[in-house]
Amino acid sequence: MALDGTRLVLGITGSIAAYKAADLVRRLRRAGADVQPVMTPAATRFVSALTVGTLAGRDVPVSLWPEAAGEDAGQTGNGWTQHVSLGVWADGLVIAPCTAQTLAALAAGHCDSMLMAVVLSARCPVLVAPAMDHDMWTHPATQRNVATLRADGVTVLEPEHGELASGLVGQGRMPEPADLVGAIDAWLDDARAATASLAGRHVLVTAGPTREAIDPVRFLSNGSTGTMGFEIAREAARRGARVTLLAGPVALDTPHGVDRIDVTSADDLLREALAVFDGDAPPDLVIAAAAVSDYAPAEASERKLKKGDGELALALRRTPDVLAALGDRKRSGQTLVGFALETHDGEAHARAKLDRKHLDWVVLNAANEPGAGFGTTTNRVTLLAADGRRVEVPLAAKRDVARAILDAVAP
Ligand code: CTP
Repeated sequence: MALDGTRLVLGITGSIAAYKAADLVRRLRRAGADVQPVMTPAATRFVSALTVGTLAGRDVPVSLWPEAAGEDAGQTGNGWTQHVSLGVWADGLVIAPCTAQTLAALAAGHCDSMLMAVVLSARCPVLVAPAMDHDMWTHPATQRNVATLRADGVTVLEPEHGELASGLVGQGRMPEPADLVGAIDAWLDDARAATASLAGRHVLVTAGPTREAIDPVRFLSNGSTGTMGFEIAREAARRGARVTLLAGPVALDTPHGVDRIDVTSADDLLREALAVFDGDAPPDLVIAAAAVSDYAPAEASERKLKKGDGELALALRRTPDVLAALGDRKRSGQTLVGFALETHDGEAHARAKLDRKHLDWVVLNAANEPGAGFGTTTNRVTLLAADGRRVEVPLAAKRDVARAILDAVAP
């Protein structure tokens, strides 16, 4: 059976789609899963804890408070530390249906129900299947919460389009239980394959632009948003690696489980990268996705420059090449990966970087292609290895491109 022996906590929240949760419990058990439902008080208004608990063959916690056992219909067996034991017990935590309210609580980390306490204690991957009215789903607040959850590594299923309980038609339906079982099975497979592959490894990632000061209020920089590097750091952490992320000035949240060090200039980046590289736990894998400025003003003015009438000439100096410095120190067993953003003769330039910086792989992305490069949510890259291997990654979300890169380069 697909889910044989899998321990699933199934969170059920107060949406009309909660009536489908009873069928979902039956189907998950039929697929071999051991299902522990946890309901919010609102969910028990739509389907009883007695029904869900009988189908699961388990008591259903509803309240955080032991003395409340029995107040919520069907609730039994409510020990004070149950949230922790359930969080540790589970191989996977699914919330279906997940209301707008619970999405918001998850995004903010509120601990106002038994379910939220279990989620915050859980060490396993989390999947949510939102169900709500179309306008609630598309509301900027809900979409913001969804984005936060995805950044935290939570899998958020897209609700389906169709007739809603309100009578309106739109996106907001929870998938049918049979489809949900398939989605849960695929998600757990993916999570299992991913979790262990970089366990015990240290991965160093550089990301974002650098800023090279001209004076106290001006700088030279570029349009990198850091997204590609952050997605690589996130994915490496998801695969069990210890991840150090050296980040230039970007407006991104730190991915879950990643140690982040913020830097500003190329000089800062070199200093921090060498400290990690020469430190107690040298990285097994370095992925340099930062768009480091190749030039900085020869001298940063301590006072703000005042404009004059004529032209302003700015003398520039070369910045240190961080990746080349790491390449010079590379020891056997270490893998170095660089990026090349090219507008022309990409492959020849990328291969030259591979040699010059002693890299194992170079990730080539075209700067002048729609949907690739800086400031996009997608990318299309070609991976070139020092040993001649070549991997084409078709246009995809940067998160998927990050996965493809790690699949190819991970030692
Ligand atoms: N890199 C670095 N330090 C620098 C410059 C680049 O670590 N001072 C890294 C980048 O993170 C990236 C790769 O090196 O992984 C890019 O190589 P680079 O030769 O600098 O690319 P371009 O700036 O595009 O170079 P060119 O002007 O030669 O095209």
